[in-house]
Amino acid sequence: MKKKVLILGSTGSIGTAALEVIANDPGSFEVYGLACRNNVDLLNEQIARFKPAGVCVFDEYQKDRVAAGRARIYTGIEGMKEMIRSDVDTVVNALPGSIGLEPTIEAIRCKKTLALANKESLVMGGRIIRGLVAEMGSALIPVDSEHSAIYQLLEGLPMKELRSIIITASGGPFRKHTKKALEKVNLEEAMNHPTWKMGQKITLDSATLMNKGLEVIEARWLFDLEPSRIKVLIHPESILHGIVELADNSLLAYMASPDMKIPIAYALNEKKRLPLPFAPLDLERVSKLTFYPPDRRRFPSVQLAYEALAAGDSALVVFNVSNEAAVQAFIDGKIKFTDIPGIVADAIEKHPAEPVVNDLETINLIASWTKEAAMHKITDIIGRK
Ligand SMILES: NC(=O)c1ccc[n+]([C@@H]2O[C@H](COP(=O)([O-])OP(=O)(O)OC[C@H]3O[C@@H](n4cnc5c(N)ncnc54)[C@H](OP(=O)(O)O)[C@@H]3O)[C@@H](O)[C@H]2O)c1
Repeated sequence: MKKKVLILGSTGSIGTAALEVIANDPGSFEVYGLACRNNVDLLNEQIARFKPAGVCVFDEYQKDRVAAGRARIYTGIEGMKEMIRSDVDTVVNALPGSIGLEPTIEAIRCKKTLALANKESLVMGGRIIRGLVAEMGSALIPVDSEHSAIYQLLEGLPMKELRSIIITASGGPFRKHTKKALEKVNLEEAMNHPTWKMGQKITLDSATLMNKGLEVIEARWLFDLEPSRIKVLIHPESILHGIVELADNSLLAYMASPDMKIPIAYALNEKKRLPLPFAPLDLERVSKLTFYPPDRRRFPSVQLAYEALAAGDSALVVFNVSNEAAVQAFIDGKIKFTDIPGIVADAIEKHPAEPVVNDLETINLIASWTKEAAMHKITDIIGRK
């Protein structure tokens, strides 16, 4: 029987890569549903090619542009949730940012296999998600390359043998920039990632290293590890994605080309590794692999993530939402690249802390507070220019 797959964010970087994986193995998968926001032209091409049973556009006004064919059309977050509740086996959550949280929770509640690229879900609602996965017995397989690496390395490993995990970061386009040079970088430069081709938000998060901060928090919830057992190393070649440090001082590492189709295929095939149609990793060509610790002075974002983890659950929501607001302000040309971590730090410092957050309503309240606080700070920064 073919697996029925729903792809949320089908027109994005992960969504299109997931469709490539599916197109490569038409005997195993059926595209059951697609969802996007703005790129209705590409959505229409995907509908014509994959003939899904349902499609969802986020905004009602886009509905008339959808060439749905036999597909039922849904809209908004409720539309995505309704599609999750329908007859699908696997949900690929490739939405960017906080909007991914509710679909993640819905997929777990409905016991669908969840291939989770949307790391922001785990950052904001990690405690709820962990609890629900345990309660429902659902499968949550990470798509983020570092977490897929660690997930694979931990398979079958007795937890008492695990000392810590290391996730790697390319260091982004500015890893050699001085602090002064970082103040002058523009959007185009920040979008020029050295090793990965990704959507706008994650590319900018990679440039600030905020992405690695988000991933430390993602790992904390995914693998149930204290933050002190999660480490970050800069590894510019992006070949070695994750390492586990074991009790006997040995290390196990996972290597792969920087191609998201590998972790996507692993998740879609529910932990099976099947042939993929591109050249294998050639270590002779890579020739050297380098590692060094992140520079906290130039890139404070990773440290901020550890501080948010220490402050408790509410700070994790604040970390994510204030970063989203700051990134948008940078895209809009309102603030400098180097203002982004300051806006996040300010919101974490000022927010009314709640160590344990167990429900979506509280998360939404904290998110609203944070948006306002971040907008205040951004207005302050603009006023000082
Ligand atoms: N890209 C990577 O290599 C990579 C690697 C690891 C993890 N991730 C994570 O995967 C997630 C997606 O990243 P991405 O790079 O694929 O992003 P992306 O290229 O920007 O794509 C985002 C997708 O989500 C859709 N979308 C945005 N807002 C939506 C909404 N409100 N309702 C419905 N659809 C919406 C977009 O639709 P339109 O384009 O039609 O507007 C697009 O299809 C992020 O959480 C990211 O951190 C990505």
